[in-house]
Amino acid sequence: MEKLNLISGITPNGAPHLGNYIGALRPSVDFSRNINIKSYYFIADLHALIKLKDPKKIKKYKIEILAAWLAIGLDPNKVILYCQSAIPEITELMWFLFCICSKGLLNRAHAFKSLFITEKNYINMGLYSYPLLMAADILLFHANFVLVGNDQLQHIEITRDIALRFNKIYGKYFILPKIKVDKKNKLLNGLDGRKMSKSYGNTIPLFCTEKTLYNMIIKIKTNSSKASDPKNIKNCTLFQIYSAFASKKEINYLKNKYNEGISWIKVKKIVFDYINESLRYSRDTYLRLLKDYTYLKKILKKGENIARDKANIIISELKKIVIK
Ligand code: ADP
Ligand code: TRP
Repeated sequence: MEKLNLISGITPNGAPHLGNYIGALRPSVDFSRNINIKSYYFIADLHALIKLKDPKKIKKYKIEILAAWLAIGLDPNKVILYCQSAIPEITELMWFLFCICSKGLLNRAHAFKSLFITEKNYINMGLYSYPLLMAADILLFHANFVLVGNDQLQHIEITRDIALRFNKIYGKYFILPKIKVDKKNKLLNGLDGRKMSKSYGNTIPLFCTEKTLYNMIIKIKTNSSKASDPKNIKNCTLFQIYSAFASKKEINYLKNKYNEGISWIKVKKIVFDYINESLRYSRDTYLRLLKDYTYLKKILKKGENIARDKANIIISELKKIVIK
């Protein structure tokens, strides 16, 4: 049976946080263990350029994401792991896509529509074209599935639209990819109760020190109910974070405590202890990996060679189709 291709990418525009872990990193490791799936995982450093103009930071976050992936159990021999900028065929394909994409399609993209625009933070053409670079990432490797959080749904729809348009003009070539969202993993809220996101500055870094983790969990917004008051699990960030890590039995235990009444400080301690223990082993591995830049570079190089071989074949085929 031919394997199905699955792709996932993470933009190195900040240190990986608990939301990235629950919504993207952890499910990607789970999927990589499925023998019927061929996984392409990459670090979207070209996407990072849209906002970040600091090469040192991009490099730092790139390494942190790679180390985080490996630390939580991604086996580099089972997946094709690469950096987007090492595959120039992606931007080559993007040009083909540019030439068949109506401006109207991109006008509707929320990536730039939802951005808070300041003078420093204007809409550059990278931001405007963001969905087309993403479409090229996906279509180049004939991905059947794209593993992303729900917030990326529109980008997958644009990718399908553009693939469909290409197929209509040139004849059927591209697969129409489907979004793969891990249903158990909902969007995680951040310190202020909004979606945890680097853009809101409300994140809990995945591998911060124990002390920072404790201080951050203590800071999570709660209401002013008394210790003896029953508490509602609905829209409770602490309960949500705990549930993303704990087993069903443990979740039910905390749910009962909420019903009986428990102080917020006790809840925060329970959540901290649990998350801290769950992450301890991978945090140690992560810190060790960060010190071994040569090893990390070697891993990427291996994946990049495989990815480029594939990419070259596709681009040659495409050139025959669109230019002759
Ligand atoms: P951010 O919003 O912090 O910039 P990214 O856009 O880099 O995050 O997201 C990388 C991946 O992590 C995406 O697949 C995204 O859907 C997922 N993700 C981001 N934030 C969360 C969250 N709060 N909860 C669950 N998944 C998330
Ligand atoms: N836009 C994605 C994010 O910020 C990252 C990304 C870029 C991606 N290209 C992709 C994800 C292709 C999946 C497939 O989360």
